[in-house]
Amino acid sequence: MDKIVINGGIPLKGSVTISGSKNAALPLMCASLLTRDEMTFHRVPGLRDVRTTKQLLLQLGAQLDDFTPGTLRIKARDIVEHTAPYELVKTMRASVMVLGPLMAREGRADVSLPGGCAIGARPIDQHLKGLEAMGASIELKNGYVIARASRLVGADFSFDLVTVTGTENLIMAASLAQGTTVLRNCAIEPEVVELAHVINRMGGRVEGAGTPTIIIEGTDRLSGIVHEVMPDRIEVGTYLLAGAITGGDVKAEGCVPQHITSLLDKLEEAGVTVEVGESSVRVISNGAIKSCDVTTDPYPGFATDFQAQYMALMAIGDSQCEITEKVFENRFMHVQELVRMGAEIRVSGKKARIEGVKKLSGAHVQATDLRASASLILAGLAAEGTTEIHRVYHLDRGYENIEEKVSQLGADIRREKDDMV
Ligand code: UD1
Repeated sequence: MDKIVINGGIPLKGSVTISGSKNAALPLMCASLLTRDEMTFHRVPGLRDVRTTKQLLLQLGAQLDDFTPGTLRIKARDIVEHTAPYELVKTMRASVMVLGPLMAREGRADVSLPGGCAIGARPIDQHLKGLEAMGASIELKNGYVIARASRLVGADFSFDLVTVTGTENLIMAASLAQGTTVLRNCAIEPEVVELAHVINRMGGRVEGAGTPTIIIEGTDRLSGIVHEVMPDRIEVGTYLLAGAITGGDVKAEGCVPQHITSLLDKLEEAGVTVEVGESSVRVISNGAIKSCDVTTDPYPGFATDFQAQYMALMAIGDSQCEITEKVFENRFMHVQELVRMGAEIRVSGKKARIEGVKKLSGAHVQATDLRASASLILAGLAAEGTTEIHRVYHLDRGYENIEEKVSQLGADIRREKDDMV
């Protein structure tokens, strides 16, 4: 296993080019199962979650061509397997997104239940309820969801809560179902909009994506297309927060600033200068950070995927603030690691109370999940002395070339083999 070693205290300066979005690429790859034709994606990020999805698609019978970096061709002419095995689903929950396409095209899918994970229970009951509403029979056996249907039929289904991959799964399922499906209380994340846009370009009929009510007219056949994956909004925000926490001047290029409005508002409130261009955002910080409360919410609210990184910033705030995590239970695993670096944070239920300190100090810390890893990198970049972050394999799930990118901004960071784990 690897560790990341950072000698902190250097203000980051320069430009960083944003990679394709993980959370857009994964459902799009799964949507390739909806057609026998070839799908070509450009700007596919080189991430472990993308590799896991490739492995899953291969197992299901798809042919893959990924010889050109960033370009991925997927052709699921025939589907030969219908199982998403535990070994893959446990490392990447997003594997459950093959459920909708498999049910739509084949009428059968055996998908391992994701089980508990580091950021809470994260059930998939809404995915299953939606499929049941569309006529699927669902059985739970040996830790697997066994779903069957002769052909899915359109339904009127309302999600009990807003779920991103749940919305995506049911859009995919409905796109090849018989008749019209109305999905209510849908997630309105940009990645959902992108998936709907792609399905429409494939010949599907999805209306209303980006609003809570989505109407899908099922069709018999979808065709292959070429598509460039949207930029990763969470990566953008992470680099901007890196600029802010180090008192630096960082420009993220090749992004969609409107996707991160709630974060940009918070950065400005925290005293960071934010300059928004057409496809770029620059932050300039003098390192003096005002403490500001935040509550996570589904899009367009403050993304839970920024919560850990924002907490690192607030750890050096000028007074006190409160961060409320409303989307996931138990998403404060990074707190005890930030505390090891000198942060003053107390957690009570869904709230973390942060008393800003003047400086963080380097320490040995453990990454516990993807965004927690990013939070520790930010803390390490700002801290005095050396920080060693262990168990960084989480990081490779979601950040393409992060050490190289922050090195180019002037950071002293390197990856080494880890003897401690
Ligand atoms: C997606 C993102 C993830 C992000 C999250 C919230 C992908 C691949 N991942 O995850 O990066 O952190 O959205 O923005 O796009 N829930 C249920 N039942 C369900 C489904 C969800 O109770 O059937 C709960 C979850 O436990 C959680 C909340 O709903 O508390 C939101 O989860 P959801 O939006 O589904 O997250 P993901 O789609 O897994």
